[in-house]
Amino acid sequence: MDASDEEQDDRKGPKVNGLAVNGAHANGWIQKSKRGGGASSGSSVGGSSKLRELQAQRRRLPIAQGREALIEQIRNNDVTVLLGETGSGKTTQVPQYILESGIAGPGIIAVTQPRRVAATSLAARVAAEQGTTLGGLVGYSVRFDEVAGPDTRIKYMTDGMLVRELLSDPLLTRYSAIIVDEAHERTLRTDLLITKLKTILKKRNGDGPLKNKDKGKATAMSGNPVKVIIMSATLDAEKFSKFYDDCKILYVKGRQHPVKIYHTAEGQPDYVDATLRTLFQIHVDQPPGDVLIFLPGQEDIESLHKSIQLYASRLPLDKMAVLTCPMFAALPPAQQAKIFQTTPPNTRKCILATNIAETSITIPGIKYVIDTGKHKEKRHLAHDTGSGFDALLTRDITKSSAMQRAGRAGREGKGFCFRLYTEEAFEAMAVSSEPEIRRTSLTSAALQLKCLGEDIEDLDFLDRPDLESIISALKTLYFLNAVDKSNRITDAGRSMAAFPLEPNLACAVLEAVKNGCALEVIDIVSVLSSTSKLFFDISDEREVAAEVRRKFRHRSGDHMTILNALRSYQDVAATESKAARKEWCRKQYLNERTLLEAVKIRDQLRATCEKMSIGWQSSAQDDERPVTKSLFRGLVLHSALLQPDGTTFKQVYGRSVIKIHPGSAIADQKVPAIIYDELVYTNHIYARGVSAIPKAFLAEISTHIKSQIA
Ligand code: CDP
Ligand code: MG
Repeated sequence: MDASDEEQDDRKGPKVNGLAVNGAHANGWIQKSKRGGGASSGSSVGGSSKLRELQAQRRRLPIAQGREALIEQIRNNDVTVLLGETGSGKTTQVPQYILESGIAGPGIIAVTQPRRVAATSLAARVAAEQGTTLGGLVGYSVRFDEVAGPDTRIKYMTDGMLVRELLSDPLLTRYSAIIVDEAHERTLRTDLLITKLKTILKKRNGDGPLKNKDKGKATAMSGNPVKVIIMSATLDAEKFSKFYDDCKILYVKGRQHPVKIYHTAEGQPDYVDATLRTLFQIHVDQPPGDVLIFLPGQEDIESLHKSIQLYASRLPLDKMAVLTCPMFAALPPAQQAKIFQTTPPNTRKCILATNIAETSITIPGIKYVIDTGKHKEKRHLAHDTGSGFDALLTRDITKSSAMQRAGRAGREGKGFCFRLYTEEAFEAMAVSSEPEIRRTSLTSAALQLKCLGEDIEDLDFLDRPDLESIISALKTLYFLNAVDKSNRITDAGRSMAAFPLEPNLACAVLEAVKNGCALEVIDIVSVLSSTSKLFFDISDEREVAAEVRRKFRHRSGDHMTILNALRSYQDVAATESKAARKEWCRKQYLNERTLLEAVKIRDQLRATCEKMSIGWQSSAQDDERPVTKSLFRGLVLHSALLQPDGTTFKQVYGRSVIKIHPGSAIADQKVPAIIYDELVYTNHIYARGVSAIPKAFLAEISTHIKSQIA
């Protein structure tokens, strides 16, 4: 590649207290030959020439130069912080180095990822680099899906899965190395792991300072020491190092070519439309090169995907073709693989991604980035009554994200980044985002910690959670009967934690077992726990879709409606071919991906019940009452009462006034009280996933809760 070696200007060099892996702290980026990828991330073993090409690619990665220094560092230290630019090879190479050099004992090497898409796609890549089939030497484990076996030595997993393993194996003894990747994202689960690993290190490797420990001594103390590697793509690694007794920070330089950044002159409220225009301007005016577009979420990605295809089909024949590839959390692995495939000739690949493509996965061939400046952020609106709720909000990104996004255009040569926001807007962005532990619900984490005999308020975190949010979590657990009056975990609480579900849904399942309708409630909860929604919301076909779906509608609301849809699908699936099934879903405006995933989740939930000797077979009758009653028990904090105005509802355990979402099955009914899955904000607060409940449920529960609080 002929582009010059220039440092991207808007960053400061890190303050490193360790050796730089490639021996170069100074300015100037290490530049290597072109192309860092292009191979498919499919799971099968390729031919030997493909394997040789992959090996050659491995050797060309920036991190390869520092391989020996890195291995030495890990060999001699319990904890290592590794900092390196996106695409330098951290995630794919470090676990392989550890495996190949044999520095970490016979256990499994865990590599945690905040996102499931990253875990599955990286595992596929590394399996290919090792010349093995996915699920053999290299595997992955994400919620409701595991591809790993007895031979698996490198396991990519979501941070949540490793946290869950703590429940059955508090010292994580199966693992001899634990790599906490993307630590800069500071997800709640990652922070929990970082905290827990500190105690695990002490217990498995012995007391005393963690750094530069005498190797012999460490092994002698327990016989099963663990190596911890914290990896991050951004520059604030000091904090991790401090947390682990000032352990060393290694720095690996990536290759970064200059990226020219453009801002718009005015803000772009309709960023989807602005993206479309920018993309076709690039396509018509600019030389070949793939485009990466950052959008906040799946809905925008899917709608833009359609518009691009429509416009692209009208392009003059002499123009390059446009190939669009979506990339978001719920995308199945087979479709993810598409983004890593070499772009066909005379085609411009255009990837529509969420912030997954910011640092977690590196996509080869990108020359242009379009940045909408938005992302989705989960925020817990805590409430001292315990009735706080999570809201997924579209918000402005941070400066740190904006810089990462721009950087993605300069991996293989000079690049261009089109920001759909003004320079002033960039300047006004927060420097980096607040750690998730300070803005999300702690209910599930608090329950998991209780199972380990620990209290979230007592733990040593990188950043401490707010007291208000701790109180809210404990109250929620109390309302769900997961903890008792004196804050001790109950048997029910332990059972809830055993389900791979949010505590409120797990509570609903347990209640359903009592009410003889576990089969139905597990089905419903499975759909609710899927990564995407069951009912497509296509704005221009909304009315047709509503009409078609009318047959699934249940008078009690959306939960039974979901059950009806799932059952109809299963009837079709029992007799029809795969293609016919797909076509049926399309006609009903149902998302088949959700249904397929739900069926998998359902099987796991049933298996979880069986493991605990809980019967999930319903004795049930065709009666929705026990079903809504069970759901109500779990969603008790998501209940609301009709107000005198006859249209709005007031939360029973909170202060918000809400409306039923117009897409709900009972949007046009007048019901005295409701439960809901979530709230969404537009011009109003809308409850989505709503079922009607009799007021009597509320009276019963409030007597119960009052008696416990008193
Ligand atoms: O973790 P880090 O950002 O440092 O890099 P990585 O994820 O290990 O990626 C190293 C290289 O592997 C990049 O150049 C990617 O383009 C390539 N890669 C790929 O071609 N296909 C994948 N499925 C994953 C990575
Ligand atoms: Mg990485």
